[in-house]
Amino acid sequence: MKTLVLFYSFTGKTKDIAEKKAKELTADIEEILDEKKHSKFGAFLVGCPKSIMRKSWAIKPLAANLDGYEKIVILSPTWAGHPVPPVNAAIEKLPPGKKVEVVMVSSSGSTKDSTEGTKALIAAKGCEVTEYTDMRS
Ligand SMILES: Cc1cc2nc3c(=O)[nH]c(=O)nc-3n(C[C@H](O)[C@H](O)[C@H](O)COP(=O)(O)O)c2cc1C
Repeated sequence: MKTLVLFYSFTGKTKDIAEKKAKELTADIEEILDEKKHSKFGAFLVGCPKSIMRKSWAIKPLAANLDGYEKIVILSPTWAGHPVPPVNAAIEKLPPGKKVEVVMVSSSGSTKDSTEGTKALIAAKGCEVTEYTDMRS
């Protein structure tokens, strides 16, 4: 199955996990990049409220053509218990009909209060969430 590992990483931990995952699956890999640099202060002050509200912020155009993949593995750091704004921006770009695996990376290892909402967000794009995993960084 042609698979893309699509990830965002603010401090590098999710990047390490994504790279291992792509190797395991022999998948292509792409990092979601912010259009402008956000500070750690901005991540807490702006990023956390946006994460809770499931809002996006601007990301650079994706190089990969998502239409060309059967499965997309999305890895996100966890901010305020939720996927981060740049990952929400990437979810908005999902074409319908994809199998989507979600890996949430956090210091606590839990996103129990946002799991169902994240699955619903992806399902609303016409995609099937095949797996959802919480990983401690
Ligand atoms: C703004 C911000 C908010 C965070 N909120 C949470 C949280 O609610 N729960 C949690 O377990 N970890 C939280 N963390 C920790 C990160 O999810 C964790 O360190 C993650 O592995 C970072 O991934 P990265 O290095 O790829 O950016 C937060 C980190 C930041 C910077």
